[in-house]
Amino acid sequence: MDSKRLDTALQHFTAKKGAFLNDLKDLVRIPSISFLGFDHKPVRCCAEAVADLLKTVGFKDVRMLETGTGNPSVFAQMIDMPGQPTILLYAHYDVQPIGREEFWTTPPFEPSERNGRLYGRGSADDKGGVAMYLAALGSYLQTSGTLPVNVKVLIEGEEEIGSSNLYMILESSRALLSADAVLIADSENIDKGVPTLTASLRGIVTVNVEVRSLESSVHSGTWGGPLPDPVIALSRMIASLVDDAGRPAIPGLSDAVRTLSPLDRKILDSLPFDEAVYRKQAKLLDGAKIIGGKGSVYEKMWYRPSIAVNAIEASSRKQAANIINDVAWARIGIRIVPDMDPERTLDLFTSYLKEQAPWGLQVSVQPESPSKWWKTDTTGSMFEAALRALEKGYGRKPVVAGAGGSIPFVQAITEALGGVPALLFGVGDPFTAAHSENESLLISDWEKGCISIINLLDGLREPNG
Ligand code: BES
Ligand code: MN
Ligand code: MN
Repeated sequence: MDSKRLDTALQHFTAKKGAFLNDLKDLVRIPSISFLGFDHKPVRCCAEAVADLLKTVGFKDVRMLETGTGNPSVFAQMIDMPGQPTILLYAHYDVQPIGREEFWTTPPFEPSERNGRLYGRGSADDKGGVAMYLAALGSYLQTSGTLPVNVKVLIEGEEEIGSSNLYMILESSRALLSADAVLIADSENIDKGVPTLTASLRGIVTVNVEVRSLESSVHSGTWGGPLPDPVIALSRMIASLVDDAGRPAIPGLSDAVRTLSPLDRKILDSLPFDEAVYRKQAKLLDGAKIIGGKGSVYEKMWYRPSIAVNAIEASSRKQAANIINDVAWARIGIRIVPDMDPERTLDLFTSYLKEQAPWGLQVSVQPESPSKWWKTDTTGSMFEAALRALEKGYGRKPVVAGAGGSIPFVQAITEALGGVPALLFGVGDPFTAAHSENESLLISDWEKGCISIINLLDGLREPNG
């Protein structure tokens, strides 16, 4: 029965993968941007669409988890395999803003296939992850009608804005979410077709900084000279965040950064690196240097803090006039690594920005919801099952790697459930352009990911359970 169940599920996926990919396209059509200032109706529609799809693939117990504010999480469960472990499957249905609309070759919310890739906002991050679960679960439920293990599904709608409501849901519904292991389909392969198990994530501390010097903007000729320009002030503050090599320069910030273990060092050194390929993947222009001092790009992206200015605003290109602006604003994020503390990072960051403000200017610093870093060792039967399943899905040996991105849920759930294994993988690749214009997913890797999950659900079964 057990191996037949797996085989029929795999055959079903092969026969129906087009239909499962259509579910992904339907999700991409919904502009579920969770950021403040965007329409929240489509976000809720997307939650409902996910719930409907879970019902369509065969779940009877499907719920919306709400806190009263923010976007719902969609929850479903099928607990009818006594003696078998319970696996919680996590992904998110919310997406980032689209960026510059005119830079999209085809519109962000009209899924479009070109050269084996599916383009659209959220195609990879993370509706591709949601759709992999739907395909894997549907492949079992539409054939044998059962799953190899007990399954809970949690698809959230606020990952891209820091998951603050999910923390509350975790507290109030801990028993509902309890599991023996968590799958997280929300990271990236280190290259196309290279199955990657992610063993660490960076955290993030983001602030909105505003510098003000005038009640309103004034003529730059009439008044220029004696008056402090807030844009110049903010530029100086921003420039002081990094040293000449581009490394964070906030005193004390990196004190807690953990030295790499010999094993991590070995893993880093074993990864392939070709500077020309890396430059191409990163879209780095000719002449622009790779910065950050000594060390490999992997070490800099996964195990060291970094600072990015996401947006900066003072007047606008369109309205640029001969003025001294009244106010300048920027959104700045610091990626944090083991063992940096988010609260301490925020305190150091905030006080440093205020200290650096020249000319007695008023500075306001508004933090967003922070995310902790996460790191796991990859020993134990669950990780072995994950590596075997990825190998079956992709037809080649997986690599274990770190990741530079952040997923607040991962550290939160493993902490809440007393250190259960978290198995991270995802359908992104270095050409995905997540968060940028023309985000896309490699369809062949998405299919391999689906096959991996079908294998993994079977591989997590207890033989004598
Ligand atoms: N899926 C990403 C995180 C990610 C990217 C993990 C690549 C591993 C590899 C996630 O959707 C994301 O973008 N998270 C935000 C988190 C934040 C708002 C807390 C991020 O990293 O900016
Ligand atoms: Mn994501
Ligand atoms: Mn993201």
